[in-house]
Amino acid sequence: MAQFDVNINGKNLSVDVDPDTPLLWVLRDHLKLVGTKYGCGIAQCGACTVHLNGNAVRSCQLPVSSIKENKITTIEGLSEEGDHPVQKAWLEHDVPQCGYCQAGQIMSAASLLNSNPSPSDAEIENAMNGNICRCGTYTRIKAAIKTASN
Ligand code: FES
Repeated sequence: MAQFDVNINGKNLSVDVDPDTPLLWVLRDHLKLVGTKYGCGIAQCGACTVHLNGNAVRSCQLPVSSIKENKITTIEGLSEEGDHPVQKAWLEHDVPQCGYCQAGQIMSAASLLNSNPSPSDAEIENAMNGNICRCGTYTRIKAAIKTASN
């Protein structure tokens, strides 16, 4: 066990965990930020996606010891009132079905639009193809990203 200082959703926090502990479990078990989901645990499904300095990363494969001074944002910290343009577009298009993968989908979409505010269809497909949805909401996800883009 060791102490790690982390910046999560704009707050400086300290956790006492094994250095190899994946960020996902620090978020869920230690900080009770359970919006970020566990799907596969092997960086294949995207359910655990959070932002590292605004870029989408898989928290299930990110050891807490590697975070250092980088800023982490989870779905809870994406906006104050759930009113990020991607979240508003998700509501407008009624995207979720079961909802389990949707926090990861939204974080990936928000990261895409951070770096590319007007993505093409191909760029959306490319950015989102690592986020799996077993309900098959892909058509609505793409429409919502189009709505949230400029
Ligand atoms: Fe991390 Fe599936 S739980 S990618």
